[in-house]
Amino acid sequence: MKSVKPQIKRLPVHVAIVPDGNGRWAEKRGLPRLAGHRAGVKQMRSLIEYLDKRQVKYVTLYGFSTENWGRPKEEVEGLFRILMEKIKQDVPKLHRKNIRVRHLGRIGELPDWLQDSIRRAEELTRGNTGLTLSLAFNYGGHIEIVDAVRRIIAEGIPPEKIDEKLFSKYLYTAGIPDVDLLIRTGDEWRLSNFLLWQTAYSEYYFTGVLWPDFTKEDIDKALIAYSQRERRFGAL
Ligand code: IPE
Ligand code: MG
Repeated sequence: MKSVKPQIKRLPVHVAIVPDGNGRWAEKRGLPRLAGHRAGVKQMRSLIEYLDKRQVKYVTLYGFSTENWGRPKEEVEGLFRILMEKIKQDVPKLHRKNIRVRHLGRIGELPDWLQDSIRRAEELTRGNTGLTLSLAFNYGGHIEIVDAVRRIIAEGIPPEKIDEKLFSKYLYTAGIPDVDLLIRTGDEWRLSNFLLWQTAYSEYYFTGVLWPDFTKEDIDKALIAYSQRERRFGAL
């Protein structure tokens, strides 16, 4: 049976997602937190492909923040392993859909085997011209800005040459337009150091749905909410 998709007039170009609530999803079921992370990555690929179908051009996922190192070692390691396996499994499929994978963050601090899988994914999909999927693993918004300043100074750029346009080119997201719609699940109403520069004029969509329960219908709810917002960028 053909599904009837709601018509959405104005779509976002760049959707950023803070997938939250994996731990609570597991706790509710008396399962270990890692079971929540495993459930959280399960539907990831189909959601990305759905956004692609919806003609979204950039999707950025917050997989691991620079602050997440504060979690128990077993959870951090387990999460990295789940992410690595997921990349290995899904990237060839995303590649077939012309999707390009990019990494945002300090990759050098991640375990070698995770770095390898991310780099391989980037290399495999480098020439793709479809949706760009950015994986923010070991990403922090403050550190991103600090890293940009360091590079600008190291390159000896004269102060009068520095403006917003130039600065953007030194961020991890160089070449990616600012975020139109930011979705956060798990009933937390925070940005949590995600894409600070790039969300200056984003529309925010918060939902109480825990990330492993988040479906294509929930994506449509967010897209519909977005299409109904009036964006004036500070003008009248
Ligand atoms: C978000 O789920 C997933 C990542 C941080 C990768 P949480 O682990 O933060 O889940 P809660 O907030 O404890 O439910
Ligand atoms: Mg959380």
